[in-house]
Amino acid sequence: NMSQEEMMNMENGHASHTNPLPLNDSTGENELPLPPLLQPNNGVVDIIAQQGKTEIFEGVETETYGYNGSFLGPVITVNEGETVTFRTNNKLSEPTTFHWHGVEIPGEGDGGPHHILKPGATEEVKFTVKQGASTLWFHPHPEGATAEQVYKGLAGLIYVEDDNSKNLAIPNEYGKNDFPLVFQDRQFTEDKQFDYQAVLNEDGTIGDTLLVNGTLNPKLTVGKEKVRLRLLNGSNARNYIFKLNTGDKFQQIATDGGFLNKPTIMSEISLTPGERAEIIVDFSKYEAKSNIALVNEEDTILLPFQLDEHRTNSIKIPESLNDYGITEEEKMLPVTKKLELFGMGTMVSINDKQFDMNRIDFTQKQGETEIWEIYNKPDMMGGMTHPFHIHGTQFKIVSIDGKEPPANLQGWKDTVSVEPDQTIKLAVKFNNKGIYMFHCHVLEHEENGMMGQVEVK
Ligand code: C2O
Ligand code: CU
Repeated sequence: NMSQEEMMNMENGHASHTNPLPLNDSTGENELPLPPLLQPNNGVVDIIAQQGKTEIFEGVETETYGYNGSFLGPVITVNEGETVTFRTNNKLSEPTTFHWHGVEIPGEGDGGPHHILKPGATEEVKFTVKQGASTLWFHPHPEGATAEQVYKGLAGLIYVEDDNSKNLAIPNEYGKNDFPLVFQDRQFTEDKQFDYQAVLNEDGTIGDTLLVNGTLNPKLTVGKEKVRLRLLNGSNARNYIFKLNTGDKFQQIATDGGFLNKPTIMSEISLTPGERAEIIVDFSKYEAKSNIALVNEEDTILLPFQLDEHRTNSIKIPESLNDYGITEEEKMLPVTKKLELFGMGTMVSINDKQFDMNRIDFTQKQGETEIWEIYNKPDMMGGMTHPFHIHGTQFKIVSIDGKEPPANLQGWKDTVSVEPDQTIKLAVKFNNKGIYMFHCHVLEHEENGMMGQVEVK
């Protein structure tokens, strides 16, 4: 029997995905700030989780969390082949962990719920970067407080560069023609604070206010040229469709974990929480006064652009970007792990079980590819989309409902949107050992136990 509160939550939850709280248009009055770049210094990167105050609304201080600052975090830049030490320090007054989303890192450094840092604690994580160019991110993962800590501002980016990315003729000048864009919706209290517990929705906390790189009403000044946008859906639960208000198409060049083999022409892309995509927008054909913006499904203005006619480049995006592929062998592999995602609100589960830190759900051998089959079982109300994420690996989508994935999903992924009644097969290989989480990246679902553990031996 469900309590009244659970019934209410289910209703709210249902509403939250069929009829989400609409976002407000960006008025574009604030130039988009860019997170600082953070390079290893003698191989060491210092990352501090801290609390602070941030002026999101003019003249008002909002209490926030951030990495190396009061709100959000830097872009950590590393190179393939480089050995780095992440020196983490928890200056919050509550426990946290440092999780490197999308990084192929040994389990002991992955920062899952087992790796709690108490207030004041420091920890060093040393590893060699063994994956290709990609836009990854990091955020906390303490059991029971992940969603709230991310909501308050703990999220940063990691750029991996490699020989390929450095030599490709693509926009790569940070802040000039290559921009990180972190999209997060928030619900502010009347006095412009975050009160996570007050707005918590067990099926995914959403808000009516969009922040891009932590900024309200952003606009981005770009040149009359090809521009690379690295999009991260860093929201707790909201899904975004990104398109241009002009209806013009753009090119997608990368997925979560690296470049696509070739630029893929898209008129819109959708990202569920945790997913990334890199796109190239060609602004050269627009007039200085044109109103160009990234908008969502409802044509809400997410990010208006302002054109600087003096900035131009003549970059021609190469036809070939990467050598990703699924082998015939991989396609023939039998399914060896089946996962059924089910439920909503506090009743979410994977294979009828909720997360238990002391239970290992699966084992897998290091370096061995297995086929994971993910099924999203609908409920009476239809169910909802679950962004399914696996730690410590970049996987390949083998099929979606038996069919080859669309061109823009034929690339390295660590999070995949699984719609109700969909069955998705993934080719999953772990290059390191350890215990890794897999879970729904709607952070409230993750919090409610839609998570399991695989031990790689
Ligand atoms: Cu982005 Cu388990 O997380
Ligand atoms: Cu979910």
